[in-house]
Amino acid sequence: MTTKYEDKFIFDPDFCHNEREVESKLIISYLLPALGYSTNEWRQEVKFNRFRLDFLAESSDNEKGVVIEAKHPDQNLNDHLVQLTNYMIDLDLTYGLLTNGKEIRIYKQAGNSIDLIFNEFAYGIENKIDDIRALIGRETLANSSNTNVKMKITNVIKAFINKDSNKDDVNMKIIAIYHNKGGVGKTTTVVNLAATFSKAGKKVLIIDLDSQANTTFATGLVNFGDEDKDNLKDNYIYHLLKSRKAFSISDVARSSNFCSHPIDVIPSHIMLMKHEKELNEYKYVQGILVKKLQEVKDQYDIVLIDTPPSLNLYAGLALITADYLLIPSDLKAFSNEGLNNVREFIEENNEFREMTNRPAIEVLGVLPTKISTNAKFIQGTLQKRIASIKQRYNFEVMNSIIFEREDIAKCTEQTLELGDQEVAAPRSIVDFKSNSKSANEFQSLAEEIMQKIGLS
Ligand SMILES: Nc1ncnc2c1ncn2[C@@H]1O[C@H](COP(=O)(O)OP(=O)(O)OP(=O)(O)O)[C@@H](O)[C@H]1O
Ligand SMILES: [Mg+2]
Repeated sequence: MTTKYEDKFIFDPDFCHNEREVESKLIISYLLPALGYSTNEWRQEVKFNRFRLDFLAESSDNEKGVVIEAKHPDQNLNDHLVQLTNYMIDLDLTYGLLTNGKEIRIYKQAGNSIDLIFNEFAYGIENKIDDIRALIGRETLANSSNTNVKMKITNVIKAFINKDSNKDDVNMKIIAIYHNKGGVGKTTTVVNLAATFSKAGKKVLIIDLDSQANTTFATGLVNFGDEDKDNLKDNYIYHLLKSRKAFSISDVARSSNFCSHPIDVIPSHIMLMKHEKELNEYKYVQGILVKKLQEVKDQYDIVLIDTPPSLNLYAGLALITADYLLIPSDLKAFSNEGLNNVREFIEENNEFREMTNRPAIEVLGVLPTKISTNAKFIQGTLQKRIASIKQRYNFEVMNSIIFEREDIAKCTEQTLELGDQEVAAPRSIVDFKSNSKSANEFQSLAEEIMQKIGLS
């Protein structure tokens, strides 16, 4: 095969600032053509069963394929090995390429795990392209039928092209999780519900609109020990809100690190607090999330928005943007009284929605959270409290209940030993204890929500 690409091309990782640029500048512009795949032999964003592959390349005259996963340049590739292993083993793909634009790795399936067979810096990759081509180039794979390469993948691309357009793909549902009372379990609900939806095969995006950034932490994105290594402050929800054209959802979204199932997160940052006045001055800020989310409506099934315990701009943006509202509450006196504020705040934001020709937000209901497991309490007091939410505050109450359990508190506190350092390694309940009572409670909640919002 000719070497016209490497004759002309010098790849510079400094030109890749986000995942999309890794995809366009490294994979689409260079790697795929240099490896011999013509444009009808690879597909981007391939949905297959519960997986969503960044790229799948396979030659049209046989059924051999390689999955290619692109990550943000700040991402550590080690954090994505579980995901790649799942893809390769479940879809029975022999080869997988993983890159963040700085490093390129190729893995080969080996039974129930994957082996690293190529690992180079992306800088100067044009000098190594022959080695990559020998491993996963179109011709190598096309000629490998008699080797011990095990490839019984059915032609995923053909299936993808022939597939009727999937209704779920264009029916993204946005759910805000909000209560103006603090500490009632909003963040806990967002992260564990996201994990449960993703486990069920849904494509999930979380938006953290709270400057406390607890969701950003709980989804494993705060992996720096000191401020000098803070890789969030230059690219988080603030940037998405402040610019009309720059910073799309995919520029700011990052792959989470707390769940073995894929979930994207728009992170927050403590500095968000300082920007409220400035953002309030932009006329377009009220509608910016609605508009930017429209651009990714085919990429996600569910968007969950975490909110601050406040009546501020950010909480308002969540109520303006979302289709549905879930109100976690421990059902205690102050939380109940707070429901009056929630009601007024909903009405205020609904007025804005009406002015912009959007329907009122649909309240799914109050979700009882952090509920005591004491049997007497459950039979007596709890029932009375639920009844009073309906009578006094006129809110529906969800059938699902999230009880107060140690497992839930523990899973965000998980740590890892790295050398002599202990680093935070939060997990979702789905990963921490998949068969626990708490995991089952989130499963029931996810099912109840899917039924209410018409998502199967
Ligand atoms: N079901 C539960 N069982 C045990 N602990 C819980 C449960 N839900 C939440 N918690 C704990 O309660 C605390 C507050 O929860 P969380 O951060 O989810 O609340 P929040 O409403 O998001 O708070 P804020 O208003 O500050 O954002 C956390 O320490 C969390 O671990
Ligand atoms: Mg919170």
